Amino acid sequence: PTLTPFVDELPVLEQVSGSTIEIDAVSSTHRFHRDLPPGATLAYGDGYLGPVIAAHRGQPTEIRFRNRLNAHPFAADIDTSLHGLSERDRVEIPTSLHLHGGVTPPESDGHPELISRPGQGMTYRFPNRQEAGMLWYHDHAMAVTRLNVYAGLAGIYQLRDEFDTGEAGNPLGLPSGEFDLPLVLQEKIMGSDGSQSIRSTPVVPQGRWEGGAVGDVGVVNGKIWPEARVARGLYRLRLLNAASFSVWDLSFSNGMVFWAVGMEGGLLDAPAATTRIRLAPGERADLLVDFALLEPGATVELRNTEDAAPQAAQIGAVRMPVFMRFRADAVRGFAGPVPATLRGEAGQPRAVGPIPQPQVVRNVSLSQPSDVRLPPSIMSLNNLRFHSDDIEMPRQGTVEQWNIVNATPDPHPVHLHLVTFRVLGRQAVNTLAMCARQPQPPLGIKWTPDPDPFVVEPLRGPQPWETGFKDTVICDPNSVTRIVVRFPTAEELGFDPDAAFTTDLVQDLRGPERGHAEPAAHHDHPAAHTLQGYVWHCHILDHEDHDMMLKYRTVT
Ligand code: C2O
Ligand code: CU
Repeated sequence: PTLTPFVDELPVLEQVSGSTIEIDAVSSTHRFHRDLPPGATLAYGDGYLGPVIAAHRGQPTEIRFRNRLNAHPFAADIDTSLHGLSERDRVEIPTSLHLHGGVTPPESDGHPELISRPGQGMTYRFPNRQEAGMLWYHDHAMAVTRLNVYAGLAGIYQLRDEFDTGEAGNPLGLPSGEFDLPLVLQEKIMGSDGSQSIRSTPVVPQGRWEGGAVGDVGVVNGKIWPEARVARGLYRLRLLNAASFSVWDLSFSNGMVFWAVGMEGGLLDAPAATTRIRLAPGERADLLVDFALLEPGATVELRNTEDAAPQAAQIGAVRMPVFMRFRADAVRGFAGPVPATLRGEAGQPRAVGPIPQPQVVRNVSLSQPSDVRLPPSIMSLNNLRFHSDDIEMPRQGTVEQWNIVNATPDPHPVHLHLVTFRVLGRQAVNTLAMCARQPQPPLGIKWTPDPDPFVVEPLRGPQPWETGFKDTVICDPNSVTRIVVRFPTAEELGFDPDAAFTTDLVQDLRGPERGHAEPAAHHDHPAAHTLQGYVWHCHILDHEDHDMMLKYRTVT
C-alpha cells in the first residue's frame, strides 16, 4: 500500500516498574498506520511490543512470564526443517524471554532451548547490579526468534541509577522526563489489510527460512513513519535497532550535528559530536539532539542512508529511507548545555578508561559454508552449527581479545550474552588469500582462521560512538573486528555464571488460580534436560535462527 508518512503521532511507550512484574506474551492486533486496519501481532501485554520496564540499579527485578499465545501471524512462515521444529510449533508457539544487555544468571538469560509453550511460563530474575543503560527484552526461542520478535515480542528495559534518575536536574545535567525518549526503530513490509509480512523475497517459498526480513516502511514505537512534536530544546533520544536484518546509517535531513552520549553498556566518557551514526540490529545509541535552532513549525526527518547489504539486495531489498519526523513547537524545552564530560569527574560515574591488556587472544569466524555462495544460505560461527559442543570456554576473570573474522560479503552484528566489551578496531582482510592458506572445511568442523597475515590496512579504531562499553558490534565484510572482553568471576557477579539448570524451570501455569480459561494445549512433557552457559550470535535475527549462534561457557 502507499502510505502517507508523518500522519500518526509518535506513541509514547507505556512504562511499568516494581520488584515483581507480570508479563504475558499474547496474540493481539495493532494498527500500524492511520490508513490501515488493525493487523495481527504478538505483544508483551497487549497490542504491539511491550511496556518499558523501568528498573533501578541495585534493586532486582523479577519477571513472572507466561506464554498465552493462541495464534501466530507467521505460523505459515515457520520453517519446520530448522532445529527439530515440527507442525506442533505452528500451534504451540515456543517463547523464551531474554534481557539483551543484562548481566543475568544463566537460568534467567532466555536460553534458546529453555522454552515456554502456551500455558507455560517461568520466573526470570534480573539482579540489576550493572551500570545504567537502555537494555531491551525480546524473544529468543530456538529457530523462531526472527518471527516472534518481528511479530512484536520486544520491549525496552530502562535501567537507571543515581546518575540517571529519570528526574529533572539529574547529576549529569542530561535531558530527562518528557525530554528523554526511547525510540524502537524497525522496518517492515505491510499488507494493505494491515497485516505484517516477513516475506521480502519471492525467491524463497513460504515456510522456508528466508535469510533476511527487510522492509520498505520505517516503524518507530509501533507506528509507521510517525511524527513527534518536540519543544525547541535538547532531547535525549535512545535509539534501538530492533530490526531483523538491516544496518542503518542514521542522520537528520538538515544535516545537523548531534551527540552520542552512550551505547549499549552505558555512557561514554564525553559526548561525541557527529552528523551520522551507524546502528545494527541489537545496538542502542544514546543521543543528545538539539531542536532549539528549528523555527516553530519547522520539521526535520530522521533518515537512513545505508544501502541494502549485498545479500539483502540479492533477495530483493531496497533501502528504507526514513523513520520519522520531528516538528518543533513554539515552546522552549530543555535548555542544555551539552555537558563537556559524562564520566570520570566528581559526581560522575567512573571513567571508561583504557582498553585492558588481553591475556588470551582468540580467533573466531563468521562464514557461509564454502560450497554455498548464493543466498539464502546458512550462516555460521566458527563454521559450526548451534548444537556443536566445540564451544568457547573462556576462564572467569580473564581479559580476552576476540578477533572476529568475517569471511562473508555482508556485515554481521555480533552479540555476546552476559558481558560488555570494548572495540579495539577493524581491519580489512584479504579473505581470498586467507581461505587459500587456511581452507574452510565442510560445515560442522571448526574453522577459526588467523587473519593477521592477511590484513591489508592498519587497524582502524572504533567510531567515536563506539568508545564505551558495548554488547553488540558491527563486523564489516571481509574484515577482522577486534574486541576486548573481560569475563567476570562468580564473586563479582553475585551468581555462578556456569551453574547448570534444567528445563524444569518452565512450569505449567494454566488453571483457575491463574485466572486464564484458555483451551489447554496438549503438552507432552519431555524429560527435563540440563542446560548450561550462555550464547553468542549474530543479531541479524534470521541468521541467529539458522545457524549463526553458538553456546559458550565461562569456566573457573
Ligand atoms: Cu538481543 Cu541473544 O540477543
Ligand atoms: Cu549475520
